[in-house]
Amino acid sequence: MKAIESPYRHSIVRDGCTLCHDIQERVDEKKTTIKSSVFQKEGVVYLGILPEDKEYQIDATVSDGFGISCEPKNAVITPKELRKKPEEAYQLKWISDVRIEKIKKSLFAEAVISWATNVPATSEVEYGTAKKHTNRFTSGDIYTKKHLVTLNRLRHKRKYRYRIISRDISGNILQSKEYILDTSNAFTGTGETMSEDRADHPSINNMQAFKIKGRGVYLEISANKPVKFSIGLKEVKEKNDGQCYGSPATRYSTINACLKCHPQDSSHPVGVRSGRPGIVVPDDVATIEKGLITCTTCHYPHGGENLYFARMDFKKNMCAKCHVGYFK
Ligand code: HEC
Ligand code: HEC
Ligand code: HEC
Ligand code: HEC
Repeated sequence: MKAIESPYRHSIVRDGCTLCHDIQERVDEKKTTIKSSVFQKEGVVYLGILPEDKEYQIDATVSDGFGISCEPKNAVITPKELRKKPEEAYQLKWISDVRIEKIKKSLFAEAVISWATNVPATSEVEYGTAKKHTNRFTSGDIYTKKHLVTLNRLRHKRKYRYRIISRDISGNILQSKEYILDTSNAFTGTGETMSEDRADHPSINNMQAFKIKGRGVYLEISANKPVKFSIGLKEVKEKNDGQCYGSPATRYSTINACLKCHPQDSSHPVGVRSGRPGIVVPDDVATIEKGLITCTTCHYPHGGENLYFARMDFKKNMCAKCHVGYFK
């Protein structure tokens, strides 16, 4: 590029092409995905402590027991604008209705256990055959009131001891007494198990983010049937609106990019058009969007032959080029 050898160089141009130009090499977006390991109709998913003034995009999908997924649902949130909820509203007080919904036999045995809590809490099960050997299932930072946990890879014809545990958003823990589960007899209970109707496709009914002071941001989500959630979370970046080399100049490359380093009031108003009889912008002047004044109307962006990278002769009465009314 010629300007790099020009007497008046814009030093930042040497390496910083992407400051103004959109070239394919995209910065990797930081994205996290939170997946639930249990089936539930509604739940609260912890999204973490997020900076207050950034924007985040949420992409949620759900899938049912047949592995059928729904169309993704999106939302954009800014933590500082979210509704605050009091932590006290999420105090775990009781666990109830601990039940075995189903025992299924195939290669291994499988048991589905359900229970309820007064507020959304985690779904955890501690289980084992002998006193010493204990397995633990946990749903992670996903909270629900109606819990449904599947324990896989159980042995046939065994008695398992199990105890269920729930933890609320504040970390309060409740656990049940110990129960016995016998894998000898397969059966299906009558309670609410994983949905049965294949034709009934999963969909998201409702999705709303809120925050709890000192704890962070949560997403409340509900579906039409018991599903597993998959929640993608990514920061929305300021978009470089894409002027490739040689393509028409954009507002981004001729104004926004400059303002990353130079103050708005560097010299002349920009992002303005002639709106008065005394000001006429001639056709031979570089503007965008048919007549909009930008920084590069008067300055070459890469540097150039003249002081201040002048695109017009700054010494003559250049103002009169457009301000025909005043300067004549
Ligand atoms: C400070 C912002 C900025 C930087 C940094 C920048 N450009 Fe540009 N570039 C522009 C703008 C604005 C235009 C459109 C100029 C116009 O409309 O007159 C442009 C135009 C171009 C063009 C079209 C032909 C021309 O010279 O007008 C090429 C090629 C180009 N740039 C390459 C580069 C390369 C390569 C780099 C990095 C070494 C770079 N630019 C860095 C803002 C920049
Ligand atoms: C990454 C920071 C950065 C961006 C973006 C940037 N500049 Fe600069 N600009 C500088 C620095 C630093 C200088 C000082 C001279 C140098 O080192 O090139 C400068 C110098 C200038 C000068 C000459 C000032 C002088 O005293 O000679 C002009 C005019 C200018 N920039 C206009 C622009 C325009 C127009 C854009 C957008 C198309 C832009 N700059 C984008 C950092 C930037
Ligand atoms: C209408 C023409 C025009 C437009 C539009 C314009 N400038 Fe200037 N700019 C000038 C002139 C003329 C000078 C020389 C100023 C002087 O002599 O004091 C200048 C000087 C500068 C300087 C160097 C002087 C200093 O104060 O450091 C920078 C940097 C600069 N302009 C940046 C910008 C940026 C950034 C924009 C867009 C936000 C912009 N200019 C828009 C005409 C313009
Ligand atoms: C490329 C054309 C062009 C050039 C050259 C130009 N201007 Fe402007 N200027 C405009 C336009 C267009 C506006 C916006 C008018 C409006 O708001 O209706 C404007 C607005 C202004 C304003 C603020 C609005 C007002 O009039 O109250 C000032 C001050 C100004 N120009 C001064 C200057 C000076 C000083 C120079 C010479 C250094 C200059 N302009 C060169 C096109 C130009």
